[in-house]
Amino acid sequence: MSETVKLTYNNTTYEFPLIEGTENEKGIDIKTLRALTGLITYDPGYKNTGSCQSSITFLNGEEGVLRYRGYSIEDLSEKSSFIEVAFLLIFGSLPTPEEIEKFNREISQSSIVDEDVKTILKSFPKSAHPMGVLSSLTSALIAFNPSSVDVDSEEDMREAIIILMAKFPILVSWALRKVKGLPLNYSNPTLNYVENIAQMMFKQPHQDYVPSKVVVDALNKLLILHADHEQNCSTSTVRIVGSSHAGLFASVSAGISALWGPLHGGANQAVIEMLEAIQKDGGDTKKYMAKAKDKEDPFRLMGFGHRVYKNFDPRARIIKKAADEVLQELGINDPILEIAKGLEKEALNDPYFVERKLYPNVDFYSGIIYRALGIPTEMFTVMFALGRLPGWIAQWLEMRKNNEPIGRPRQIYTGENHRAL
Ligand code: CMC
Repeated sequence: MSETVKLTYNNTTYEFPLIEGTENEKGIDIKTLRALTGLITYDPGYKNTGSCQSSITFLNGEEGVLRYRGYSIEDLSEKSSFIEVAFLLIFGSLPTPEEIEKFNREISQSSIVDEDVKTILKSFPKSAHPMGVLSSLTSALIAFNPSSVDVDSEEDMREAIIILMAKFPILVSWALRKVKGLPLNYSNPTLNYVENIAQMMFKQPHQDYVPSKVVVDALNKLLILHADHEQNCSTSTVRIVGSSHAGLFASVSAGISALWGPLHGGANQAVIEMLEAIQKDGGDTKKYMAKAKDKEDPFRLMGFGHRVYKNFDPRARIIKKAADEVLQELGINDPILEIAKGLEKEALNDPYFVERKLYPNVDFYSGIIYRALGIPTEMFTVMFALGRLPGWIAQWLEMRKNNEPIGRPRQIYTGENHRAL
């Protein structure tokens, strides 16, 4: 007989099934809780709530483990290309040579954006934050690709995935080129997916662009490391928006907005701004450590702490090493890398951080690499979104295939009782 969990309430004992994942993590299946007992659960921030069963990404926060479809993040970031990882996440297995050739060909054939989208982009002020621009342009894609909203057609859904994988990097590069005041450009069919991202972002109009291996390898690694992270804030947003049968582009556009916040993907921008502020203030890391620990001070050490990792974020380890390598290969000596390392060292030895199990997360060192590549600070979270795209797509597709019910949490009402008017 399968295991159950008993709940006693009002002298009646109810039993709820225990479900177990393939990595032995257990959860109480409370689907019948309210119908049987009249009770709901209360869990702000969903700290203890599983919203779905998923076979995409496994994360063990206590041991610092992260795997996509069973493959470790260390292996994937070392040995795979971002487009292979995207295929793996979306379709469930690493591609055969024929599959990846077809995937790349389909993406290449869709790598064009309607000229009218440029008019929308043009109407934004140059000061617009690129995350807002990206979210709006992704939403605008719906109008230019109407079949992508038919969520019941498998064929349309595959097409929507190809369209998004193809056009999203173009929108990202256009957001960057708008910030830099550069003419908009397109991908080059002789280059691979990540080389094209580099080419579209960095090509100067008066120069040929040959993607450098250092830049492409760094981008490849960073994109893979950001590609999925199970039910985080933006991914949950994508799934919950999609659960209303909204289309893929609308769901991803909402995910971009969720990612923007500084507690989530926006932390990579916030980290660099924090490190620059510390540098400007004389480099006194102790002062900022004290501020981070002061409960009266809203300041937090950005790039530290994680809802799930209570050990090293495995992505942070890889990125820290990559930051050292990239800066060395590009011959850059960035003083804020030293400030970051100093802060990390202090935090890892400080009882406040040790007791709360606060470690550097993925955002702590990534911005230092983006900065070395010449990407403006306000574009960092856009780079995160570019990496996260395959994860959002995979999670959205899984939610559709499992025919998950519309996401609709309940509440405990604490307002006024009925009042006569
Ligand atoms: N600096 C100082 N104190 C912190 C920090 C920090 N960065 N993070 C958490 N704490 C403290 C927090 O004040 C609380 O202390 P106490 O128990 O005394 O009240 C305790 O640690 C637990 O924190 P929490 O806010 O309850 O934890 P959470 O799981 O709700 O939040 C977090 C996780 C990532 C939002 C939070 O650690 C944070 O704000 N970090 C800084 C922002 C950041 O780097 N975000 C990127 C996250 S990783 C990438 C991504 O998800 O996109």
